Order: sequence, then structure tokens, then C-alpha cells
Amino acid sequence: MSEDRKRVRWGVLSTANIGRAAVNPAIQASANGELVAVASRDPARASAFAEEHGIPVAHGSYEALLDDERIDAVYVPLPNSLHREWTIRAARAGKHVLCEKPLALDAAECEEMAAAAEEHGVRLMEAFMYRFHPRTERVVAMVRSGEIGEPKAIRSAFTFRLRSRDNIRLVAELGGGALMDVGCYCVNVSRTLAGREPEVVQATAEWGPTGVDEALAGVMRFSGGLVAHFDCALTMERCEAYEVAGTDAWLRLDASFLPGTADVEIVERRGREGERRHAVSGDDEYRLMVEHFADCVLHDRSPRYPAREAAANMRVIEALYESARRDGATVAVPSS
Ligand SMILES: NC(=O)c1ccc[n+]([C@@H]2O[C@H](COP(=O)([O-])OP(=O)(O)OC[C@H]3O[C@@H](n4cnc5c(N)ncnc54)[C@H](OP(=O)(O)O)[C@@H]3O)[C@@H](O)[C@H]2O)c1
Repeated sequence: MSEDRKRVRWGVLSTANIGRAAVNPAIQASANGELVAVASRDPARASAFAEEHGIPVAHGSYEALLDDERIDAVYVPLPNSLHREWTIRAARAGKHVLCEKPLALDAAECEEMAAAAEEHGVRLMEAFMYRFHPRTERVVAMVRSGEIGEPKAIRSAFTFRLRSRDNIRLVAELGGGALMDVGCYCVNVSRTLAGREPEVVQATAEWGPTGVDEALAGVMRFSGGLVAHFDCALTMERCEAYEVAGTDAWLRLDASFLPGTADVEIVERRGREGERRHAVSGDDEYRLMVEHFADCVLHDRSPRYPAREAAANMRVIEALYESARRDGATVAVPSS
């Protein structure tokens, strides 16, 4: 930012649950940001939300928040189908954007959003918070350094049971579905651990009555004989975990995407040596994410995860959906 500002002034578009539960408090707790305003489609809801959560300004529309010159950056926790529109409108209004995952409905939308951010000189990042947890960084470093030999298999899951049918995740027009909502983490962590893009994918889905995938299982094949497989669901008891197996050892992480703030561990198994547990101090991955993004805004730096990385994730998701629609056919992932 041009002026000598120490803190980013944030606004949040909507009274979404994830904002209320995790990201808004993380902004309020952050060392380099303050949550100045919230907007809702319903002015009364915005005012009540602002009062309840100690947010100074309430706007009765998203447009009004984007017009507010006191705001430097917006956090966008809208239904997936609205990410593109409101990110581009925010960029045009000169606001930096931290947008929820998945960044958009497909890779083309992600590219369009990245181009808008570039054109208007603002930062844009997808809010995959788990990447900022110190344990994620540690496991990626362990794999990269060759500690497990050559990675050969990645197994991941993110499932939970949606109790209410009245939820954006079940609405096809809003970009719902298990792969969009939670499978996107499995795709993201598999690509990150692999350090490259899958070449081909296959998937099978259980389609619900509203037309969204309520459960999906997928396979991603990478060069060098590395295979990643995963399952995601809105219909099963909660499980979020992954393992990466190499020629010499494997590593396992439980509560891998939402570990909370308690201390955690990485379990390692190597030959007949038994399990070794690597302790990692807990932290708030949401606060680490918003502080990183605000730091990029304040110091005019590119975020560690550029918006075009989100497009690469979406290319894989699109290929998985195509395979699921074609009854598990092998689908090539386009390179860009
Ligand atoms: N990173 C994470 O840990 C995490 C966790 C959960 C969800 N998410 C992501 O965050 C986003 C929001 O998820 P959520 O579960 O928090 O959603 P949610 O509670 O349903 O909130 C979505 C908000 O969007 C606004 N909205 C605007 N148009 C809407 C429409 N047509 N239908 C419904 N709501 C509409 C509403 O706010 P107003 O009425 O106030 O305008 C609503 O409160 C999604 O992209 C999801 O993938 C991320």
C-alpha cells in the first residue's frame, strides 16, 4: 500500500457461518489487521451481526461496503457461485480480496479473477487455511527433503455429515457438492505433496436429489508412478486425514485440515521400527492465513499461493467431475 499503514482495514461480505466462526475472529485477533465492516443483503442482519461481534460498521449491501473508502481488503465467504462476481467487483473498487475456497466454479473463472486483480493492482488469494498450519509446512518439507524416499501414494479423506437439507452445499446453482466443498482440500493437498500436477484422473460419485455429488471418490495419477486417491462426502461421519507413502517410510496426519489450535503430530512409520511421532506446536491457521495476506497487502508482495494456483486446482476438480459424469472414465487434466 502506498501510505505508511501498519494495519489492513478489512470488510467482510456477508454474515456467513465460516466468517462468524473462524475467519472474522482471526482478523480481529491478527497483529496486522482490523475488522472494520460487515455487509449483508439484509441491512437488519448486518447491524445485528456487527453489534454481536463488535464490528464497527454495518452495510446493508455488498456494494455499499465496496464503496466504503475506509476498507482496504475484503474477505469473501459467499456461496461458491458468487465468488467470481464479487471478487471482480471488489478488485474494480480497488479492494484486495481473500476469497473462500474453492476460488470459483472452474479454472476459467479463476483466471478471470486473477486477471482482474492484476489489472486493478490488488492482491487475491484463495482461503485454503490449512496450508498455513505449521504442521502442513513441516510435512511438505519432510516430503520434499526426501525423508520418506520417493512418494508413491497419497491417501486422503474429508467427509462429514450434513444434518440439514437447507444448505448452500446441496444447491447445484450455488456451486454445491462434496468435491467442491471438501474434496477440494484432498485435491489441493495431493497436488502440494506431489509437487506437480496429475496427468489423468478418474472418479465415481453418488449424486443426490438436488443434482450435486453428495459423495465422491477419486484417483489422480501423476508422473513417476505416484497415485493419489481420496474420498469426500457430505453424508458420512467426519473424517479428515491424509497419508503420504514413500519408498522408505510413510507419514500420517489426523485432523489434517481443521486441527484447531491444540498441539498436533505427524506419525511416521518406517520399516520395522514402529511408529515415531513428530510433535508440532498448535496455532490458529486462520489467523496465520489472514496475517500472511495482510502482510502481502501492506508490503506490496505476492501471496505465497497466487490465484493462478487455484486455477490449477480447479482444472483437476473439473476433470474429476467429468470422469464422475462419465461413469469413471479416465480423463486427462489439461496443463493450462
Ligand atoms: N475455509 C474454511 O474453513 C471454510 C469452511 C466453511 C465454508 N467455507 C467456504 O465459505 C463459503 C461460505 O460457506 P458457509 O458455510 O459459511 O456459508 P453460509 O453460512 O451459508 O453463508 C453464506 C452467506 O452468503 C450470503 N449469500 C449471498 N447470496 C446467497 C444465496 N443466494 N444463498 C445463500 N447465501 C447467500 C449470505 O449472507 P447475507 O445474507 O448476510 O448476505 C450467507 O450468510 C463457501 O465458499 C465455503 O466453501 C470455507
